[in-house]
This record gives sequence, structure tokens and C-alpha cells, in this order.
Amino acid sequence: MRIASIGGGPAGLYFSILAKKAFPKAEITVFERNKPDDTFGFGVVFSDATMENFAQADRETHKAITGSFAHWDDIDIVFKGRTLNSTGHGFSGMSRQVMLTILQDRCAELGVDVRFQTEVKDLDQFGDYDLVLAADGINSIVRERFAAHFGPQIDFRPNRFVWLGTDYEFPAFTFIFKENEHGLWRVHGYRYMPGYSTFILECTAETFARSGLKVEDEDATVAYVQELFNDDIKGHKILKNRSLWRQFPIISCDKWHHRNMVLMGDAVHTAHFSIGSGTKLAMEDSIALAEAVKRQPDDIPAALAAYEAARRPMVESIQRAARTSLEWFEQTERYYEHLAPIQSGFSLLTRSLRISHSNLKLRDPKYVATIDSWFAGQAANQSGVNIPAEPPPPPMFTPFRLRDMVLANRVVMSPMCQYSAKDGTINDWHLVHIGSRAVGGAALVMTEMTDVSEEARITPGCAGLYKKEHVAAWQRVVRFVHENSYAKIGIQLAHAGRKGSTKLAWQGVDRPLDSGNWPIMAASPLPYLEGVSQIPREMSRRDMDKVRDDFVRAATMADEAGFDVIELHCAHGYLLASFISPLTNQRKDEYGGSLENRMRFPLEVLDAVRRVWPKQKPISARISATDWAEGGVDAEESVEIARLLKAHDLDIIDVSTGQTVAYEKPVFGRLFQTPFADRIRLEAGIPTMTVGAVSSYEDVNSILAAGRADLCVLARAHLYDPYWTRHAAYEQGYTLPWPDPYASLVRYTPRHK
Ligand SMILES: Cc1cc2nc3c(=O)[nH]c(=O)nc-3n(C[C@H](O)[C@H](O)[C@H](O)COP(=O)(O)OP(=O)(O)OC[C@H]3O[C@@H](n4cnc5c(N)ncnc54)[C@H](O)[C@@H]3O)c2cc1C
Ligand SMILES: Cc1cc2nc3c(=O)[nH]c(=O)nc-3n(C[C@H](O)[C@H](O)[C@H](O)COP(=O)(O)O)c2cc1C
Repeated sequence: MRIASIGGGPAGLYFSILAKKAFPKAEITVFERNKPDDTFGFGVVFSDATMENFAQADRETHKAITGSFAHWDDIDIVFKGRTLNSTGHGFSGMSRQVMLTILQDRCAELGVDVRFQTEVKDLDQFGDYDLVLAADGINSIVRERFAAHFGPQIDFRPNRFVWLGTDYEFPAFTFIFKENEHGLWRVHGYRYMPGYSTFILECTAETFARSGLKVEDEDATVAYVQELFNDDIKGHKILKNRSLWRQFPIISCDKWHHRNMVLMGDAVHTAHFSIGSGTKLAMEDSIALAEAVKRQPDDIPAALAAYEAARRPMVESIQRAARTSLEWFEQTERYYEHLAPIQSGFSLLTRSLRISHSNLKLRDPKYVATIDSWFAGQAANQSGVNIPAEPPPPPMFTPFRLRDMVLANRVVMSPMCQYSAKDGTINDWHLVHIGSRAVGGAALVMTEMTDVSEEARITPGCAGLYKKEHVAAWQRVVRFVHENSYAKIGIQLAHAGRKGSTKLAWQGVDRPLDSGNWPIMAASPLPYLEGVSQIPREMSRRDMDKVRDDFVRAATMADEAGFDVIELHCAHGYLLASFISPLTNQRKDEYGGSLENRMRFPLEVLDAVRRVWPKQKPISARISATDWAEGGVDAEESVEIARLLKAHDLDIIDVSTGQTVAYEKPVFGRLFQTPFADRIRLEAGIPTMTVGAVSSYEDVNSILAAGRADLCVLARAHLYDPYWTRHAAYEQGYTLPWPDPYASLVRYTPRHK
């Protein structure tokens, strides 16, 4: 077998070692343009978990690598001059040069032919090799030459960074955040060998421009950094080594292999250095590829396909974590400005969602206890409720106040249409649906989208609040919740707008009724599903008056029924949302155009509702913080929307996204809407609820402790498990009071297996 590696970085060298061990007779040649000791940068970092994989792949390199390690457990976070310490993280650093030398030596020992100072320019010479590794790093010429096959995407991120070193030994993996007249600087520092540390400096494009530093002027960079961080490195020296300012490229490829060629390491994917995983990814690629080739040495294209299929999901998962981590460092100013240092630290540690409140508790119980105490103290101040300090409750079991409504914990059951009402009147199904979740421990249960008039309904099965009998039916539910649980109950008031007059969900979502359709209206006469949906009429001022008055009547009835909070549905493309999004509002009058104009009618409704809704009771609004579509509402505009709502006395924003237009392109995933709640909360300065794929108590605690939202809203998790909050309490060893008829449960231990 003949194998060529274009590139002698970690990916190319390590694969060559593993392949030579598996196929001692194979002819393996590594082409490397640099000299053996000619490396950029300083140190690389691995987690303990990564090292276990390496031990199994090749004991010799593992031994040599671990022999050169600087190991540490602590992370220090320096925020506004204060150092927070967290332990139990298990990392090792080593010199990149030493690591390459270990790999080069092992190649030589096994008989791999490594040709240094040999730059590959012509790819045609590799036609008769059985396997060609494109291990040629970020600027891979193989990837570019066969771009049509590999489909590369390169996203250059806006932040600037430079890889420096220092002869100061950081005692822990250290993040420093420091402000000067040019802006906020982030340092990622870690020891990699006795007497030396890596010192990566990062900042926004604006800070970089203000600093006057030049991309290639290494001496000026060193002088600047030396002065700014002199105290942090106790007067030690800042060192350079081709230390040019760069922008991080996130690289991904549609396909990883082509004929006898395969992309590896940085050539095919990158992961931001803030999760320290580039070298790990490159070397794990080598392990996976070697395994695939060992299994099918006679069919290399099949081996390459198997390699990609097995490896891609793991890489993509790390890339997702790396992206959220990178975004944290792009938005650090927000956390720096708005969060207390202790909370910023927690936000930093949990940024990539790989570390949660629970696993941080295992690593460093003291740190989490400090956070929990701090959080409980804040909650006690905010709510006016006494909270036992020792031990503090988990963040999810702290109270939260909105006006006179005090919630016992931070869990909310999301509004969920049941499509089971008759003429808008709800029934026993709704009583059990809502009542069981209230008994199940959520602090706030929300009714489904409840429509303010007959023609405001989405479907004939939707709940309403526009007739006397509706008030009585809701009163029964509210009374049950208040008399049998500590939960508060809110009603989501809505008008379906252009999404109205459609079938029940299980008969065809958004499909018009086969018969009995009613006329619909919206901000503009645009159908939701082109060629399928009814075309709504563009609302006249008279229509607006009527809808506003319907909301007011419903709010009055909601008070009569005893609800604790109203939520105005301004999301998901329904009537109020249709005014907000420029994709659904194409009006030429004072209700269309600028955001101020588009918000005019929703704000008018809010004002009118606020006037009749008792002062001591809060109002929420659910918004779509992005339309997930070109030209629509985006995260930045959602902050403005939130500011306007806040200025009109809104108490909290329930941050959802999308469902504005049928051609949206949402990006789903765990907590996928939480970044929007986080941003609105901090930038608009209004409490937020986060909803969307929040399903574990670990996530709830992490979101709250990191200050990413004030309340966590769960929909499907509650459908599946009405007692979700009680289960979460049990798992955390926290006691929730039972209703009297269930008192015998105090001495009961549940078993699920
Ligand atoms: C600032 C910064 C900090 C980082 N910190 C860490 C960290 O802490 N931990 C970590 O694990 N990773 C870290 N990385 C990432 C890490 O350096 C890379 O992810 C890793 O080296 C990828 O290995 P590779 O073999 O794919 O590519 P590379 O290491 O880039 O190797 C590619 C090799 O190919 C050679 N080459 C390229 N073109 C040709 C050609 N035409 N002919 C011959 N040879 C060629 C190059 O000279 C190079 O030696 C960091 C990166 C940066 C930029
Ligand atoms: C059956 C069902 C009905 C829903 N009805 C509503 C609704 O009436 N109003 C609303 O704003 N969102 C509604 N949603 C959206 C949810 O409130 C929630 O935002 C979404 O399901 C994401 O949360 P989850 O990942 O916890 O399920 C509904 C979702 C489901 C599953």
C-alpha cells in the first residue's frame, strides 16, 4: 500500500504512525513544507478525556506526550480585577513543538518517510497512491483544488486574535478580561512547559481598530500587550513567534473525501481555540481513519466513506460547542457590562453547554455552592421572599416576582393549543391538562393560545375568551389551580390573523377548513401558504379598533376569571406578530415601514390592555426574536422590540422564534432559542423567559445561574411528564410540598426501573 500525506502536522504524522503500525509493509511518505523544528505558536492543550483515546491508539506516543505534560485542574477567571477560581477541570498543556518532535521521532522509528522542506504544489503526482491525506491545515490546497467536490464553507469570524507566549507560568488555565481606553481584551493563557505559557489575546474588530495595532507589526503588538498585562504576568516577558493578528475561520465541508483523497484535521474542520480542541480533533481524525482503513484495506473509497460517516457526527457536535463558545467571546462585552463578575464566570464556564450546573457541581462543589448562594441571595432580594441560606436551593427552586405575583420557582408550563374546545369553550380536558401540571410543580401554568373573538381562532377547536360561558369555564380551571397548588396561572391572549380558519393540528396544520371557513385579516394581504391559505384582508383602522377592543374585553374577562398574568401573543406569525415582521407587514401607512411604525398597533393593544388589567398583575408578551428568514426580524431588532415593549410597561418577554413565514430556515438544537432570551435580557434590561428544547433540570439551573433568562418555559417536556418539576426536585434532593390528599408520598421512594 502506498500512502502520501500532504502536510506533517498532528493529523498527517499521527495517521502515518497508526497506519504504519497496522500495515508495516506500507510505503508511507509525509510531505512537509516546513523544517522539523519550524513551528508557529507555543502550546496546545488537551483534556484528560482526550488522552484516554490516545493511550489506546498508540501507547508509545501517549507515553512520550504525557511525559511532557504540564497538568492542571484549575481555571482562573479574572474579571474586573477579581479572580474567580474553579477546580476539577483536568487539562494538560504541552509545547506544540515538543509534540511535533514526538510524532516525527515516532514516524522515523516506524519507518515513515517524512520529507521536510518539501512543499507540494502539483497534486497530479499523487494519482497512483492508494491513499492521499490532505492534512495540509487551514489553507489546504487540496480542499481548494477540489472545492467543487468537497463543498467547503469558510466563515471568517469578526473577532481578532493573536497567538503569543510568555515566560510567566500561569498557575491555572487562565482567562483574563481587561478593559482599557480601546476596549475589552480577552486573554486565554495556560502553561505548556516549565517556565512558559501560551498567551492568546482576543478582541472585537472595533477594539482592534481603536488600538491602532497593525496585523503584521509583531513588535508593536508585544509592546502593547506587555504594558497592558504586565501586572498579570508579574513583570515577565511577552514572547512572539510569527504572532500576526488573525480572524478565526470556521471551516466545514459538505464532503470529506474524493477518489483516493481524504481531508483531515484543520483542512476539513476547525473548532475555536477557546475549547482547545483543534489538535485533539486532528488526532482523533487520524485514529478514526486508521480504524476505517484497517477494516477495508482493499477498498479505500469504501473505507473513506465509512470514516466520514462515523466521524462526522462527533466533529459536528464539537463544532457546535465550539461555535457557542466562540460566540461567547464575540459578545463578552455584554456579559462584562451587565453581569456581576461571579455570574459572568459561571456564564463563561457553561458557555458551550458541555459543562452544566450539575457536572460543574461534581467537578467543583464549592464553586457551585458559592454560585447557588449568590443566586439565592439575588432571588430573595428580587422577590422579597426569605430563602434558607444553608444549603441554598438549586437556582430553579428560587422564587421570582413580577409586580405582586410571586412565583415559587422558575419553571413555567408553556402555552399549548389542545384544539379540544367547542365554540371557544374549554372543558374537562383543559382542566386536567392544566390542573395536572399545576399539581406537578410548575410555578406558572399558561393556558393555550386563547382567542379574543370567534374569528380570532386558529381552528374551530381553539379556546376563546369572548363569551360569558368562557369566563365561567376558565374560572373553574383557575380556581382548581389556586385551591390545589402553589402555581399561578396565566392566559395567553391572541388573534390568529392570517393563520386563522384552519384545520385541527392533527387534521392538517395551517390547512384551510374543507368547509365553514370564516374571513381572515392581517397586517397585509399575504397568504401564509402560497396557493393554499386564504388571502387575508388588509386590516383597516376600523378592524384595528375592533381587535384592540376584543383584547381589552378579553383582558377584563381574564381578570374576572381570576388569572394572575396575561401574555399577549405577539409571536409565530399571528395577528399582532404580522404587524411586527417586515416579511408580513408591507403596509404603506403609519403601521408599516420602520420598526416604530410596525410596533404601533401591537403597542396600542398593549396600552389598552394595561389600562384595564389590574396594576398589581403583570403582563408578558411572547415574541419571535428572529424570523429565521432573510429580511425578517433578527436578534438585533428583537432587542429594539423588547425595548419598545418595556417602555410601554411590559413586565417580561417570553422569547420564542420563527413561524412567521413558511419558508423560514430555523436552526434547531438544545436551548436553541436561549441566546435570544440572553441577549434581550441583558441589552434591553427586561426579564425574559426562555423556551425551546429546554428539557433537563441541569439546563434550567445552568440558564438561570448564568443569567441567560429569568424563567424557563417547557412545552413538550410537560406534555410527556406533567410532574416534570417534582421529578426534577426529587433528582436534586429538594423537597416540594405535596397537596394534602397526597401527603402519604412524604414517606414514599419512587423507583423508575
Ligand atoms: C491561536 C491558536 C491556538 C490554538 N490552540 C490550540 C490548543 O490549545 N489546543 C489544540 O488542540 N489546538 C489548538 N489550535 C489548533 C491547532 O493548532 C490545529 O487545530 C492543529 O494543529 C491541526 O492539525 P493539522 O495537522 O490538521 O494542521 P496543521 O497543524 O496546520 O498542519 C498542517 C501542516 O501542513 C503543512 N502544509 C500545508 N500546506 C502544505 C503543502 N502544500 N505542502 C507541504 N506541507 C504543507 C503545514 O506546514 C503544516 O505543518 C490552535 C490554533 C490557533 C490558531
Ligand atoms: C402541542 C403544542 C401546542 C402549542 N401551542 C402553542 C400555543 O398555543 N401558543 C404558543 O405560543 N406556542 C405554542 N406551542 C409552542 C410551545 O409553547 C413551545 O414554544 C415550543 O413547543 C417549544 O418548546 P419545547 O421545546 O419545550 O416543546 C405549542 C407547542 C406544542 C407542542
